[in-house]
Amino acid sequence: DMDVFVDNLISQMTLEEKAGQLNLIPYEGSVDDPEFINQLENGRVGAILKSNGAARNRQIQEIAIQKSRLKIPIMFQEDVIHGYKTIAPVPLAEAASWNIQLIKESAKVAAVEAAASGIHLTYAPMVDISVDPRWGRVLEAGGEDVYLGSLISKARVEGFQGNQLDDPNTVMACVKHFAGYGASLAGRDYNIINFSDREMMETYVPPFKAAIDAGVGSVMCAYSAVQSIPATANKYLLTDLLKKELGFDGFLMTDWSTISNLVYTGVAENDTIAAKLALEAGIEMDMKAEVFVNRLPDMVRDGIVKEALVDNAVRKVLEAKYKLGLFQDPYSYFDETREKKVVMSADHQQKVKQMALESMVLLKNENVLPISEKKKNIVVVGPLAKTKKDLLGWWFCKGEEEDVISIYEGIEQHSSKPKLRFAQGCEIDSFRVAGKELIPQAVRAAKNADIIVAVIGEEYWMSGEGGGVANLRLPSAQEELIAELGKLGKPLVSVVVSGRPYVLTDIAEHSDAVLQAWMPGTMGGEAVAEILFGDFNPVGRLPMTFPIHEGQVPIYYNYRKTSHDFNAPDRYSTRHLDIPHEPLYPFGYGLSYAKFSYGEIELDKPQFSMNEELTASIEVTNMGEVEGTETVQMYIRDNVCQITRPVKELKGFQKVNLSPNEIKKVSFTITKDDLTYLDKDLKMAVDAGEFTLFIGPNSSENKQTTFTLK
Ligand code: IFM
Repeated sequence: DMDVFVDNLISQMTLEEKAGQLNLIPYEGSVDDPEFINQLENGRVGAILKSNGAARNRQIQEIAIQKSRLKIPIMFQEDVIHGYKTIAPVPLAEAASWNIQLIKESAKVAAVEAAASGIHLTYAPMVDISVDPRWGRVLEAGGEDVYLGSLISKARVEGFQGNQLDDPNTVMACVKHFAGYGASLAGRDYNIINFSDREMMETYVPPFKAAIDAGVGSVMCAYSAVQSIPATANKYLLTDLLKKELGFDGFLMTDWSTISNLVYTGVAENDTIAAKLALEAGIEMDMKAEVFVNRLPDMVRDGIVKEALVDNAVRKVLEAKYKLGLFQDPYSYFDETREKKVVMSADHQQKVKQMALESMVLLKNENVLPISEKKKNIVVVGPLAKTKKDLLGWWFCKGEEEDVISIYEGIEQHSSKPKLRFAQGCEIDSFRVAGKELIPQAVRAAKNADIIVAVIGEEYWMSGEGGGVANLRLPSAQEELIAELGKLGKPLVSVVVSGRPYVLTDIAEHSDAVLQAWMPGTMGGEAVAEILFGDFNPVGRLPMTFPIHEGQVPIYYNYRKTSHDFNAPDRYSTRHLDIPHEPLYPFGYGLSYAKFSYGEIELDKPQFSMNEELTASIEVTNMGEVEGTETVQMYIRDNVCQITRPVKELKGFQKVNLSPNEIKKVSFTITKDDLTYLDKDLKMAVDAGEFTLFIGPNSSENKQTTFTLK
């Protein structure tokens, strides 16, 4: 069995070979490079990132298996974040679907393609909760909410890993970045994080717990310092919390060069101390820094670290390789025939298109969408209408522009009869300096339009790692374009391509309709067109609050009650004096072409005891003229507690499909588990007393009632 096999292997390894297993290097260079071959032959490499393709990785594996003394296979890892080559919407967009099953399917698409192309492990899911859209990496995660984020975390782990890790149609997931990276101050990437232990346990840890409970194979630690101790060197975080308390027993890796960063940030005097801190904290694989491989053998010989500790780390890495089936067949993930068949398959394109359709959020619609057949003269405007890479978004892995359908092309395919005109309108103006010269031309082109579709937003690199911004309004040339087009008095639809919430306040004011299309992936253009023309009725709901003004950030729906409420009648209020308190669009918000109305909440009993269940029901009616899907959301507030509690927290949601005039009764079951919280001592507790229950279409509009837990 695995333990015997692994122990036996470790007993044969030299210190150099052990340290080699802990070494993860990026390698994009030539497979014939003598220096690279030498490293493989000497067992100095345990895993490789940034190398993919079945043929290439097979060649590398052959060297490791045929030429190294112990024939230990290499593990290939990659950032397969939202697709390998058939690219799905960015994860934040996927989160907007609130379709957990589809999110799982999408992860599976990515896994099947990556696993055929020589990848064993993906650095996903990224589950860092964030309430700051200035942070570029919000696009990689599941949004601001811990309940939704945890469901997504689990779904993505299951989608990547399937039921059996050694099935070469699956990849091992690596949940990241443990923990709290999403709190990078002011949205500046890699910045300090500064929050309470309570927040750590309530907000940042649960999505990791969900991944661990789903059997995630590996974890990557954060760049951040938790309580000023870099995660990489944080023994409390990695050993006490992650391994002991949360029960993680897979293997734990650093982020990029974070062992060397310990020296850089002044936590370690030199690489030797850095390696010691990381190993003793619980790190098992060193990404990029090559400190473990270079330092550990001598450190053991000099008595600086115990060999048993090195062995433990090696054991975790070898176990992962064993679970992936690499010792049985080191080549099973390098299948060129399968690679040709599955990568960019019609089925995968169809699935990511469905994901794109379900991820888009209709934010405003004043009787213009869907575009009616009568509107023959459509003018497409905007700097994002014809771009392709921007639809792929950050972390597009092997996705290629040539495979992408632009939004213009999507509209063109769907509107063969109507006249279609195009004007760029302005430059994207990423650096906010130029690009307004084209505005008058676009205004002229749009003058006689029946409807204007303006495609605006950001370039693919503007969100993502290192993509912190202070301005949350779209670049000024684009804002000006929309304002000028708005003056024409023609129906104006703004389609926003972005990886984060922007402040769309003025865009929405000048537009009759706004569709948040995110960075929608390979099939994004078709998906936008199907929504605009009504072939698909939008279902997306915001997984992050859209602020009305940058000064509101950080902004999120589940803030805690304060002593001076935002709606106090005088100035002694928690609101800003100069901007509204409410966001532009709240968490959970999104429109449909159908119109849903809610009845009142009915409870099967007004109070229930700890071992009982409470059922809450509400009738939802489709008052519109087309069939549509509503996401019915349930939130709960604990009215009295020993600590201040959020004004409401998402505790459940259901998607219901309704034909025109159809009424459905939607029921939620509430148990004491939905009412637990961390008490003064951060212990899980549940208190008897009164709770408020909210059910409705989003976090701010809802019906409410109270119930009592006895
Ligand atoms: O997976 C990423 C991580 O999220 C950020 N640093 C680099 C890693 C590997 O590319």
